Amino acid sequence: MTAPGLAATSPAGRDYPLTDADFAAIARLARDAFGLALADGKRTLVYSRLARRLRALGLEDFSAYVALLNGPDWVQERTAFLSALTTNTTHFFREAHHFDLLRTRLLPPLIDRARTGGRVRIWSAGCSTGQEPYSIAMTLRELCPEIGRHDLRILATDIDPRVIATARAANFPVDEVMPLPAELRDRHFRPAGAGGGYRIDPDTAALVTFGVLNLIEPLPFGGPFDIIFCRNVVIYFDAETRDQVWAAFGTVLAAEGALILGHSERLTGPAAAGFQSIGVTAYARHPGSEPSPKQGTMP
Ligand SMILES: C[S@@+](CC[C@H](N)C(=O)[O-])C[C@H]1O[C@@H](n2cnc3c(N)ncnc32)[C@H](O)[C@@H]1O
Repeated sequence: MTAPGLAATSPAGRDYPLTDADFAAIARLARDAFGLALADGKRTLVYSRLARRLRALGLEDFSAYVALLNGPDWVQERTAFLSALTTNTTHFFREAHHFDLLRTRLLPPLIDRARTGGRVRIWSAGCSTGQEPYSIAMTLRELCPEIGRHDLRILATDIDPRVIATARAANFPVDEVMPLPAELRDRHFRPAGAGGGYRIDPDTAALVTFGVLNLIEPLPFGGPFDIIFCRNVVIYFDAETRDQVWAAFGTVLAAEGALILGHSERLTGPAAAGFQSIGVTAYARHPGSEPSPKQGTMP
């Protein structure tokens, strides 16, 4: 059955019917591969976003797209499928209160530890094009200009290889950089040259290591991380998948570690009992709530 009102017109003037069976197949794949929750209310959004893929691929209808998703071409299409269904929106110092919390409370003891030879790890999970981890790196270098000489690193991961490539390039358009305070711009950006835009200062960029990682798959590394940022990522996940992600974070977050979520996200489910609130969508482990050890290679 074709849902009423769900028809897009291709450049050739043809509509793409989206049957219940096609929608169910797309929703199942999105959940199994990425933990995305595509409830029936998302049908119009799914339709309009994926109709663009049908046009780009020159497909006849959604059934042909579902067949492609279930066949060997899935490997090539999976990133475009995911990108069509999610957003990579981000910007420098997004949700500024989290950077205040870093500056005033979370980072000073970690910097002390790093200065006395200790190891510090911060993870930006779902980092998109890198503005979040680079904002953490800038905050760190503002507090401790020589932090690069110590054992402190930021791991930044995202499921989408295209955003990770952009993040690694460390080159940002003028209109993203100009709103930053002039002294931050001067210390952490360099004009990118002929191509325009600004490049992150190499010493700031060197604090961040990027990688591709799907949060709904088993984590390929152990911890401990002192702070995990996972902001505006789990909004796409169903409750069960969110609980799995929190549980996985629990295995790699340090005993006194902090977990920072996005503005519309809350720590819920069984993992929430082990945490206390330390600010707006910011949590720390309850004292005495130990991480469950996880085997793996430390990043
Ligand atoms: C809206 S952006 C958030 C970026 C940044 N954390 C912020 O708050 O500005 C969400 C990011 O989550 C990523 N993402 C979605 N599902 C994911 C998954 N299963 N594993 C890892 N990253 C995922 C998307 O690719 C996207 O880059």
